This record gives sequence, structure tokens and C-alpha cells, in this order.
Amino acid sequence: MKFIDFPLLVTERLILRKLEESDWESISYLRSDKIVNQFVKRANADTNKKALDFIKNTNLKITKDLLIYWSISFRNDQKMIGSICLWNFSKDNKTAEIGYDLGPKFQNKGIMNEAMIKVLDFGFQILSLDKIEAFTHKKNENSKSLLIKNNFRLNQKRLDQDNLENMIFEINRPAANIMYNK
Ligand SMILES: CC(C)(COP(=O)(O)OP(=O)(O)OC[C@H]1O[C@@H](n2cnc3c(N)ncnc32)[C@H](O)[C@@H]1OP(=O)(O)O)[C@@H](O)C(=O)NCCC(=O)NCCS
Repeated sequence: MKFIDFPLLVTERLILRKLEESDWESISYLRSDKIVNQFVKRANADTNKKALDFIKNTNLKITKDLLIYWSISFRNDQKMIGSICLWNFSKDNKTAEIGYDLGPKFQNKGIMNEAMIKVLDFGFQILSLDKIEAFTHKKNENSKSLLIKNNFRLNQKRLDQDNLENMIFEINRPAANIMYNK
């Protein structure tokens, strides 16, 4: 995986863009809010410094091709409302994990579905991934429904040894004639 420029993605309502330092308040909120993090185990970012460190480290990892992290905004408003990322690439860069979050007031509007369709298409068409995985808490119904809607399948044979409450969903590269970016 090697990018010349950050891969800006645009959908009908959204812009998936690079994370900026000015997103620190949104990062802090998304990574600290109790509702957003109800089913997600991760370090919080409840201070300005922690949020800025997260932004710096994330953008550094992007330059090292270790992950791609998109800040989600509406097309007509720069404010970050959520994020979606591809990370945890396998050594051969053929498998990656997808992660996502959205502020509660923007949920249930089909926003993450719109972002995910674009990112799956990017992962398969541009990065030539063979498989994308998602680890999600068994009680995270919104996340599970989003994954199933996007043709992920639960792999019941795999366990997340780091969190046994997680379920592992997978999607393989679709046949060439199936396009995601409808
Ligand atoms: C998981 C999460 C990202 C889902 O985001 P979302 O944008 O609400 O999810 P969707 O895009 O699937 O939209 C959900 C609903 O919006 C509704 N909706 C409203 N307007 C819509 C539109 N224009 N287009 C499509 N759906 C629309 C639909 O009813 C849809 O539900 P359905 O597909 O079951 O009918 C969100 O709940 C979240 O951020 N949770 C906290 C963080 C988290 O748990 N992340 C996952 C870690 S593994």
C-alpha cells in the first residue's frame, strides 16, 4: 500500500477527509462520550493534549502506510461528525480491519452506511484487498446491522482473544461485476 496523496473520498452527502488538528474537539468527544464508547474498548481522549496526540499519531501512521483514517464531515460543513478507518493491515496488505464511529445526533440517518460503501469500494478497488474484517461487540446491534447490510458475514469459528465479547465479521472481495459505489 502506498499513496501519493491522502485519498479524499466524496459521497452524496459526505466528505471523508484527512484528520486536522482543528478536529481535536470532535476527537475528544467521539473518544470520550459514554454513548459512542458504550461497546468500544479504547483509550479515551478526554483532554486537549490527548486528542492532539491522537491526531498527530494517526497522521504519522498514515504517512507510514500503517492505516487510513478518514474524518467524516457533511459536504457543506467542515465539522467532523465521525470517523471511519482501515487499519491492522496484514503483512501482505491483503486484509485490513475496518473501524468507525459517529456522534449520537448523527446516527440513524444512514450516514455510516454511506461512508462504509465508499470505504469498502476503496479498499477492494484501489487497495486491492482480498478481505476486510470488523470486530464488534456482540451487543452492538447498530454496528452488527450496518455490517450485515454491507454483506459482511459473521465468522463463528474465530474468537477475538483480546475481547471475548466481540464478534468477528468478514467480507471478501466481491466479484468484479459487483460495484459498491452506486
Ligand atoms: C455503529 C454506528 C457507526 C452506526 O451508524 P449509523 O449511521 O447510525 O448507521 P447506518 O448508516 O446503518 O444507519 C442506521 C439507520 O439510519 C436510518 N436512515 C435514516 N435515513 C437514512 C438514509 N437516508 N439512508 C439510509 N438509512 C437511513 C435507517 O433506518 C438505518 O437503519 P436500518 O438500515 O436498520 O434501516 C453508530 O451507531 C456508532 O457510531 N456507534 C458508536 C460507535 C461504535 O459502536 N462503533 C462501532 C465499533 S465496532
